[in-house]
Amino acid sequence: MDNFNFYSPTEFVFGKDRESECGEYVKKYGGSKVLIHYGGGSAERSGLLGRVRESLNKSGISFVELGGVKPNPRDTLVYKGIDLCRSEGVDFILAVGGGSSIDSAKAIAAGVPYDGDFWDFYSGKSIEKALPIGVVLTIAAAGSEGSGDSVITKEDGMLKRGAGSDVLRSKFSILNPALTQTLPAYQTACGATDIMAHVFERYFTNTTEVEITDRLCEAVLITMVKETPRVIADPDNYDARANIMWAGMVAHNGLVGVGRSQDWNSHGIEHELSALYDCAHGAGLAVIMPSWMEFVYKHNVMRFCQMATRVFGCQMNFENPEATALEGIRRFRSFLHSIGMPINFAELGAKEEDIPALVEKFGIGSGRTGGFVALSAEDITEIYKIAAKASL
Ligand code: NZQ
Ligand code: ZN
Repeated sequence: MDNFNFYSPTEFVFGKDRESECGEYVKKYGGSKVLIHYGGGSAERSGLLGRVRESLNKSGISFVELGGVKPNPRDTLVYKGIDLCRSEGVDFILAVGGGSSIDSAKAIAAGVPYDGDFWDFYSGKSIEKALPIGVVLTIAAAGSEGSGDSVITKEDGMLKRGAGSDVLRSKFSILNPALTQTLPAYQTACGATDIMAHVFERYFTNTTEVEITDRLCEAVLITMVKETPRVIADPDNYDARANIMWAGMVAHNGLVGVGRSQDWNSHGIEHELSALYDCAHGAGLAVIMPSWMEFVYKHNVMRFCQMATRVFGCQMNFENPEATALEGIRRFRSFLHSIGMPINFAELGAKEEDIPALVEKFGIGSGRTGGFVALSAEDITEIYKIAAKASL
């Protein structure tokens, strides 16, 4: 196991009706003028925003609002948010929604105290200061409620890029699983895929002797394999929703990845798909992640056998470990398909002829990425090609 620091300062407020306490938590963390930042309307339609306003009013906290965050959130709304916070003297941002609203809130939070263009942070500049943020989560997926990361798309050229800093971590995150019951099955499945991908990006490591984090990863993955079909079949199953919502946080606040090298190439390769086609991040991952696995599994066949046997219940074939590794990957892909995810370019709405443009935008030139297996542009091309033609 490698040396590590683990920092996860967010207060998680979990359970039924907890959103009605958001005013108290804003107060606890020093907010007096709030920007409520939300998405395209689901939070208004469900009545959630009404309850959030009521709670803020009850705590004597004034607020302004900015809705309209799109999935794959755009820089254009971030600029609007920064202007609004400055002109209204906002000192706390409350994101109500999923990863997109939270990431947009984080970008605004970093941009308000910064003199330059906030996009600098998404081009490599480190973030030293940000307004405090809080979260009321409505979808178990991105894990942004517990992470220090934010992913924003620059509208001009549709460049999707990430930034990260501990100052972006939410002061509190309210997780009421019942709020996710209004999600369409497709979004539920996209979220589940993203949660599993966050674990896999950490699971496929070159660090040895990491039993504790291996087992934590497997616990999250096994939970997702068990609970996701239950909520697809019965969207109102609170208990299954609750397990998934906590799994989404555990998968991405850093806990299951401490002390080990990580990968993240599947995420990078997917981000180019969601930038180009504006598809859901989880759907893009369903197409990319098993394809990446097929491309790299020979690097450490036994690690893939471990996944196959412990997570997907495969029998170990000691004469032919490669067969076990491949069976694990096949079961993963077929699980994704069973929950309604696309598994190839055609099902995602992507085009094979765009592969050179996708690789170009990925932007590594003649270099290589880091990770479990360092990839060249040719390798990434190959992974997109596998993804284009994947079948069960
Ligand atoms: O906008 P509204 O109307 O709210 O609709 C949303 C949106 O259409 C809908 N939705 C959310 N909660 C709902 C609901 N519909 C009905 N009932 C509810 N309770 O679901 C759609 C997707 O929402 P979004 O916030 O985009 O989902 P998600 O949480 O998957 O976030 C995706 C974004 O997060 C980024 C992704 O790249 C993508 O841009 N990521 C952020 C990470 C981070 N900050 O740590 C890590 C991830 O790997 C990921 O890259
Ligand atoms: Zn993700």
